[in-house]
Amino acid sequence: MILGLIHNRIAWEEKEIIEAAKRKGVPVKLLDSRNMEVDVTGDKCDYGVDVFLQRSISYTKGLYSTLVLEAMGYRVINSYKCQEICGDKLKTTIALKQAGLPLPKTRLALSQDAAIKALDKLGYPSVIKPLIGSWGRLVALLNDPTSAKAIIETRETLGDNIHKVYYLQEYVNHNSRDLRLFVIGDEVVAAMYRYVIPGDWRSNATIGGKTEACKVTDEIEEIAIRAAKATFSEIAGVDLLEGNGILLLNEVNHNPGFQHLATVTKVDIAGKIIDYLKENM
Ligand SMILES: Nc1ncnc2c1ncn2[C@@H]1O[C@H](COP(=O)(O)OP(=O)(O)O)[C@@H](O)[C@H]1O
Ligand SMILES: [Mg+2]
Repeated sequence: MILGLIHNRIAWEEKEIIEAAKRKGVPVKLLDSRNMEVDVTGDKCDYGVDVFLQRSISYTKGLYSTLVLEAMGYRVINSYKCQEICGDKLKTTIALKQAGLPLPKTRLALSQDAAIKALDKLGYPSVIKPLIGSWGRLVALLNDPTSAKAIIETRETLGDNIHKVYYLQEYVNHNSRDLRLFVIGDEVVAAMYRYVIPGDWRSNATIGGKTEACKVTDEIEEIAIRAAKATFSEIAGVDLLEGNGILLLNEVNHNPGFQHLATVTKVDIAGKIIDYLKENM
């Protein structure tokens, strides 16, 4: 197998994947999505690879480089279909709901007034999220109608119409932590708790959330695998929130980082990714 690694920056994870491939005798060709320039109406471009692994951090670069490569007949993991769903919180929620998976109560509103009405139904505190985004950016806690109104009014001025699509969610009263499960194929290969950052209410490891390895119960495993399947994810970071002992799905990350997870669990995630690609290219 020759692996094509699509990226737009070689970070810790990409270095690990390149190292693991070397150890396992898999040649790697790097494709920087920033340098891609494709004749869409012309002949198929021969990249000389058997399968591509999509690791672009930029959502749009990842999405569109996958689209053109798939159009040429290449297999890309994760697929365009997966990225389109997982890159958008509303599309993810709909896919998970259709699969019958447990979710925090979530409402969509398309104007300021409708958003305030939706929040009255959800109650306070609740959470507002941008449809597209990660690392907790622009995800805000709405404590009461006054702060909700202020945040919604600010978003109306942000220019981009996508910010006027209001994805609103009940606040899940969890134990100051969420769960990150790393799925590869039909297996949860590693799992950790991520604790809420002091002085914040979010637990993203990238903004400083403390992490701890977590035991994977059958229940956790089943939810994570079903969530990955529902979103067509072959490799995924599935996030769960536990409120009053009930597990709820927060999101499915289609291009998950794994530096914190690999460090805290000591699982060779990059090696497992290469094994999966070899078996499923
Ligand atoms: N409904 C919720 N209730 C409680 N905490 C939440 C809720 N949604 C998100 N969070 C917290 O905020 C963090 C960021 O939200 P998330 O939906 O994962 O957005 P992002 O894609 O930016 O990571 C989560 O890791 C979690 O700690
Ligand atoms: Mg998240």
